[in-house]
Amino acid sequence: MLESGPEMSLVCLTDFQAHAREHLSKSTRDFIEGGADDSVTRDDNIAAFKRIRLRPRYLRDVSEVDTRTTIQGDEISAPICIAPTGFHCLVWPDGEMSTARAAQAAGICYITSTFASCSLEDIVIAAPEGLRWFQLYVHPDLQLNKQLIQRVESLGFKALVITLDAPVCGNRRHDIRNQLRRNLTLTDLQSPKKGNSIPYFQMTPISTSLCWNDLSWFQSITRLPIILKGILTKEDAELAVKHNVQGIIVSNHGGRQLDEVLASIDALTEVVAAVKGKIEVYLDGGVRTGNDVLKALALGARCIFLGRPILWGLAYKGEHGVKEVLNILTNEFHTSMALTGCRSVAEINRNLIQFSRL
Ligand code: FNR
Repeated sequence: MLESGPEMSLVCLTDFQAHAREHLSKSTRDFIEGGADDSVTRDDNIAAFKRIRLRPRYLRDVSEVDTRTTIQGDEISAPICIAPTGFHCLVWPDGEMSTARAAQAAGICYITSTFASCSLEDIVIAAPEGLRWFQLYVHPDLQLNKQLIQRVESLGFKALVITLDAPVCGNRRHDIRNQLRRNLTLTDLQSPKKGNSIPYFQMTPISTSLCWNDLSWFQSITRLPIILKGILTKEDAELAVKHNVQGIIVSNHGGRQLDEVLASIDALTEVVAAVKGKIEVYLDGGVRTGNDVLKALALGARCIFLGRPILWGLAYKGEHGVKEVLNILTNEFHTSMALTGCRSVAEINRNLIQFSRL
């Protein structure tokens, strides 16, 4: 373990990636880092941010910079939240409980995955005051979804995030070589604790037949706002608005599902234009620096979500490591705002982006 304190050598998110690469087992490292097929989109998520150039404004009194904003009406300390990722116990003993504590301490939103390795009840007990959304992989048995959603609602989760881009699992070559699915099922998907009302979900049962028309059923059984995760086109963005959902996460699942789709940041503009301000649009995929956060907001995202960097932080030092990752990125974002002349997130707009280079 590295020492914390002034001599600490992890100063940016990719330092945490390097640390995780060194310290995790091969199969866990491959599970986290892996993309689908040739990993073209996984890598382009990062590269696309680096193709965008900024237009800073000066002499604007940036002695006070406020990174706070809201999502679905709830305040967050910065537009930097935690994307749903499964199996946190693979990288830290109490897994999602540590993640939830770090999110609560940072004052940001944590989207808990259907494939969390801790029970939802334990996650809520670990961080009762934290803002939490729940990510659903729709199960073919609608009644199981209903029980789970009602449990989530009664536990105080504030939104239901339905992941659209995984009707089947993408081809992750490393996981196939490592026979990860078999290992995960054996070691991490344990049977439910006594008192949990539904059986624990297994890896495979995700509905392949879900359609736009099914959304009204979800709306009929919950009062939670519904957020659709994985939209990449204006056509689907328009359908999302038409079906009265409350938000969209522009995402390609970190390049783990369909390879060779657009980088998330490249898909954002089209989705933002299509929703015409009617619902909130968020983004995940490839956010690694404060400038990346600024660019996503300038192009219309309300906030961003982090996938892999949270797991790198967790692998480093559990709750403390996740706090470090969030803290470093928030500080970088604060600097990016000050250096571009933005005193509040409301002042971050498209004029910050050099469009001739896009
Ligand atoms: C994911 N992702 C994901 N998405 C989801 O809706 N449910 C899930 O259970 C998971 N699990 C998961 C595990 C791991 C190890 C990774 C890396 C990703 C996708 C995730 O929510 C998000 O879309 C991407 O991770 C964002 O890209 P970055 O930040 O990893 O580049």
